[in-house]
Amino acid sequence: MPKSLRHKHILITAGPTWEMLDPVRFLSNRSSGQMGFALAKAAKRAGAQVTLVTGPVTLPDPKGVRVIRVVSARDMHRECLKHFPKTDIVIMTAAVADYRPANVATHKIKKTGKSMTIKLVRNPDILATLGKRKTKKQLLAGFALESRNMMAYAKDKLRRKKCDVIVANGVPAINARASSAVLIFKNSPSIKIPQSSKAQLAVRILKNIVG
Ligand code: CTP
Repeated sequence: MPKSLRHKHILITAGPTWEMLDPVRFLSNRSSGQMGFALAKAAKRAGAQVTLVTGPVTLPDPKGVRVIRVVSARDMHRECLKHFPKTDIVIMTAAVADYRPANVATHKIKKTGKSMTIKLVRNPDILATLGKRKTKKQLLAGFALESRNMMAYAKDKLRRKKCDVIVANGVPAINARASSAVLIFKNSPSIKIPQSSKAQLAVRILKNIVG
């Protein structure tokens, strides 16, 4: 593990977000948080000071890591903006919901005999916000989970969200114990990491982005 992580502040996002529709229902996705938690553990072992902002997951707090548990994309956005100025490296693995219901019902929504339409509005894009605010000293890594045209979409994300690196993987990576990945850099050739456990993948990602 690279020594360069000593004295570094790392901010990692993980898990899904929940976008509430009423007091008992929400919109979300299948993210388990495993990748972000594995990265937090690996970064901690390498001597970094780690802040992990996570959506609702069932994983326990990694030892020695500052864990901030949030629910929605807007909560995650707020926490990331708060911690970003004193952060050296940001790794955003969270599967943030791009949309939320326009209205959150105070009481449980009762069914009727008719169909129902839910209006959704855009959530803030946390990675893109940080990309705009990033200084030259800060390193910003995003994730891209794609079901097709993975390399093209990931390269586009790298440029649009002003990241230094994008970790691209396919849909089988979600909620899985192991995965492969491709690291796509702004200024150097891509690196392929073969199928590995998320713990091994985390170590390799860190080595390649900060080593
Ligand atoms: N992300 C984020 N805030 C959002 C959405 C995504 O910070 N509201 C981050 C994720 O944590 C990930 C990266 O952006 O690091 C890629 O997310 P994705 O949703 O795949 O990016 P989009 O550009 O929104 O994807 P698409 O264009 O396919 O909708």
